[in-house]
Amino acid sequence: MQPTVNIAIKAARRAGNIILRHADRIDMLNIETKGRSDLVSEVDHMAEQAIIEVIRQAYPDHAILAEESGEQEGSSYQWIIDPLDGTTNFLHGYPQYAVSIGLRHLGKLEAAVVFDPLRDELFSAYRGEGAQLNDRRIRVSKQKTLEGALLGTGFPFKNPENLDAWIAMFRELITQSGGIRRAGSAALDLAHVACGRLDGFWEIGLMPWDMAAGCLLVQEAGGIITDLDDRSDYMKTGNILAATPYLHELIKPITKAHHSLIAQPVK
Ligand code: IPD
Ligand code: CA
Ligand code: CA
Repeated sequence: MQPTVNIAIKAARRAGNIILRHADRIDMLNIETKGRSDLVSEVDHMAEQAIIEVIRQAYPDHAILAEESGEQEGSSYQWIIDPLDGTTNFLHGYPQYAVSIGLRHLGKLEAAVVFDPLRDELFSAYRGEGAQLNDRRIRVSKQKTLEGALLGTGFPFKNPENLDAWIAMFRELITQSGGIRRAGSAALDLAHVACGRLDGFWEIGLMPWDMAAGCLLVQEAGGIITDLDDRSDYMKTGNILAATPYLHELIKPITKAHHSLIAQPVK
């Protein structure tokens, strides 16, 4: 295994332990509001510090982009960290959240780990070497039609000005697909596309730490990721369509058709 993946796994497991230790003591946590429907707890901060400590020990000169503590400059390697993706779920005891750690080198994602501590499922990938769930190699599903496909999405609750665009996409996809789920952790949604539990996923306005690791998982599992307009850089816009190659072809015209309704800038 690549050393950077090993370090990401060590860091993700350490964060996962912190998250689980606090999962049955949610009432006692300090919670702050970052923005509209945007919460952060002391668990997010503690998990992030634990991840950064592990990375810093192994790679003191690497750069870091972490959701809660921001950017630290460094070499051409940058770690992109979401210590707890699905904070709202976590704070409600709703069992769907994950740790997400990605490594980008000169603009390209190179290593990825998404860890679901509740199911003890560790998704990992390295560029060019495929994706794994625990020790098993994973691939995107073989679903070829929208009919019968299970899709994931996220609501644009932080940017309600994008609701019209999202609803227009939803209206078409809910009638043409087999079903749509909104589980509340973009990192896990992407990991679930990578292992074939979901056939596709779209969301408007994600941040780099929500999707960096998940995107590499999907690509290394044989899936396709683009911006919803099929043109822009999704890591910059945060507007993302991830799916099996067949489904990507079928969903793309729908997201493209309503893309002009997305308010600019999205953040
Ligand atoms: C959120 C989750 C959610 C997505 C939001 C993200 P957080 O991350 O990934 O599924 O819809 O856009 O902000 O705040 O729980 O780390
Ligand atoms: Ca997140
Ligand atoms: Ca988070």
